Amino acid sequence: MKKFITLALAIIMIFALCACGNQAPAAPAAPAEPAAPAAPAFDTITPGVLTVATSPDYAPYEFYAVDEAGNASLAGFDIELAKYIAAELGLEIEFIPMDFDGVLMEVGLGNVDMGVAGLSPDPERAQTMDFSVSYYEGGQAFITSQAKADKFTDLASANQAGLQIGAQIGTIQEDLATQFSADADLVSLPKATDIIAELVGGKLDGAYIEWDVALSYQKNYPEIVIVCEVPYEAEGNVIGVPKGNEALLAAINEALTKCVEEGTFSDFVAQAQELAEGNIIEGLLD
Ligand code: ARG
Repeated sequence: MKKFITLALAIIMIFALCACGNQAPAAPAAPAEPAAPAAPAFDTITPGVLTVATSPDYAPYEFYAVDEAGNASLAGFDIELAKYIAAELGLEIEFIPMDFDGVLMEVGLGNVDMGVAGLSPDPERAQTMDFSVSYYEGGQAFITSQAKADKFTDLASANQAGLQIGAQIGTIQEDLATQFSADADLVSLPKATDIIAELVGGKLDGAYIEWDVALSYQKNYPEIVIVCEVPYEAEGNVIGVPKGNEALLAAINEALTKCVEEGTFSDFVAQAQELAEGNIIEGLLD
C-alpha cells in the first residue's frame, strides 16, 4: 500500500512538473461525446443562407458606398444589421437589391427570408407580412429645395393645388402625401433618390421622405430644405418577414434585440451616417 502511495505521488509530481514546464494553456478536457451541432429551429429559402431584399436608395439606411479604388458595395445600418443577424443565426447572407415596392412584394410572396429597407410598421402591411420588433426611431419630413422654399412655411402650405409633390412608390410617404397634400399633384417615383434628383432639378415642389434620409441627402445636396416634421402614427422601423415563419421571426427578433441592447446597432448608425457623407451611388447598380 505504501509503495502504491509513493508511486502515485511520484506520478502526480511528474505530471505537475510537466504542467509547469508547459507554456501553452492546458487544453480543456474534451467532452466524452462531442455535441452534435444544433439543427436550426427555423427554415430559410435556401438552407444555410439568409436571403434579404433591400432597396439601396436610402442613405443612411441602405445605399452603395464607393471606396477609394472606385468599388461600390452595399452599406448602411440596415445592411450591417442584416449581416449581424445572419452571423447570429449561423447563416451566410445574400442581399437582393431592388426598388422598395419590390421589397414589399417579395416579402409578401415569401420569396425572401426578410426585407430590410427602412420599413415602417404600416398596419395595412401587417396583412401580408410579419414585423420584427422595432430597431430604430425615425420620423417623417416634408422637404423642398432652396429654389421653392418660399412657397412653404408649414405642413398646411404643402396642400395647394398645382404643387408637384413627390413620394416613393409603395411607401407610407405616398399615404402621407395623399393625406397632407390632397389638393396637390402626387408624383410617385420608384426610388427615393429619384425624388432627390427631381427636387434638385426643379421638377418637384416638395416631397415626403424619412427624416434621417432627408438629413443624409441634405449633406450631399445642400439645396434640400427640410420644411417640417410630418406626423405619422406607426413609428419606428422594422424588418419584414414572410407570414407564418414564426421560428425565423423569433430568431431574428432575438438577434436584433441583442444588437440594439449591446450598443452595436448605435455604432452601425454612426458608421453609416459617416459613410453616407462620402462618395455614394444614387439608386441601384446596373
Ligand atoms: N419607411 C417608409 C415605408 O416603409 C419608406 C421606406 C423606403 N425604403 C427604402 N429603402 N427606399 O414605407
